[in-house]
Amino acid sequence: MKTSVDSREVRRHHLRAVFLGPPGSGKGTQAAAVCERMGLARVATGDMLRANVKEGTELGKKADAFMKAGKLVPDELVMAMLFERLQKRDCLVGFVLDGFPRNKAQAEALDREGFAPDVVLHFVIEDAAIVKRIEGRQVCGKCGANYHRAFRPAKKAGVCDACGGELLTRKDDNPESVKERLKVYHAEADALVEYYKRQGKARDLVADRPAEKITEDALRVLESARPSAE
Ligand code: AP5
Repeated sequence: MKTSVDSREVRRHHLRAVFLGPPGSGKGTQAAAVCERMGLARVATGDMLRANVKEGTELGKKADAFMKAGKLVPDELVMAMLFERLQKRDCLVGFVLDGFPRNKAQAEALDREGFAPDVVLHFVIEDAAIVKRIEGRQVCGKCGANYHRAFRPAKKAGVCDACGGELLTRKDDNPESVKERLKVYHAEADALVEYYKRQGKARDLVADRPAEKITEDALRVLESARPSAE
């Protein structure tokens, strides 16, 4: 019967992953690559919040100042937005969370709400390498594709290869905000990684390497964590 085929199909692809790492460590770049290859939904809380800021929603108005300053947006705002998103149909086949959880309270909420990940990729990279990455980052204002002036340049300067949109610099990619984002990350990261290590789900990924090599490793780890079909 068609219904049972559909439900088996859903179970086969039903992988839930978290990408955890400092700002600029490549979470977004890798999440886009593996989601395309594995047919998973990419759920990036930073992108969702930026879209709210751009559209001027109530959430966007509340989040804007926190984001510009490099601080975390309050848990209750981000969680309400995220858990609504995870109910959407595309997440049924599995998802990669890029940028959530950021602290232990968010990780516990994810488990409590029934969205516990199968695997957590922990991006490991020195702060000095991160600063260079963030300084050169450009993002398409239209489709959100991600570039770097030196490491991943667009074919035509300032123009997105994919859609022709204008390449912009994020409002929080300035030295003061980056410093604060790193401080916030380091204050929470150890407890978060420990939380997932205790669950046997955390895998370290050396993130200071060419993007293609990291993608290969990430795909391998994710494939091996995929829940088996029944
Ligand atoms: P968010 O958008 O999640 O930003 P972030 O965590 O600071 O991470 P980034 O997007 O800066 O970096 P990335 O790791 O994705 O790196 P990327 O692939 O772009 O969050 C923004 C803000 O929103 C937060 O500060 C907070 O205020 C709020 N927020 C979001 N989630 C929240 C939550 N859960 N709770 C509370 N608040 C929340 O790569 C960076 C650059 O390097 C790019 O230019 C890229 O092309 C280049 N690059 C990537 N990989 C490589 C490589 N291997 N070699 C060379 N260059 C590379």
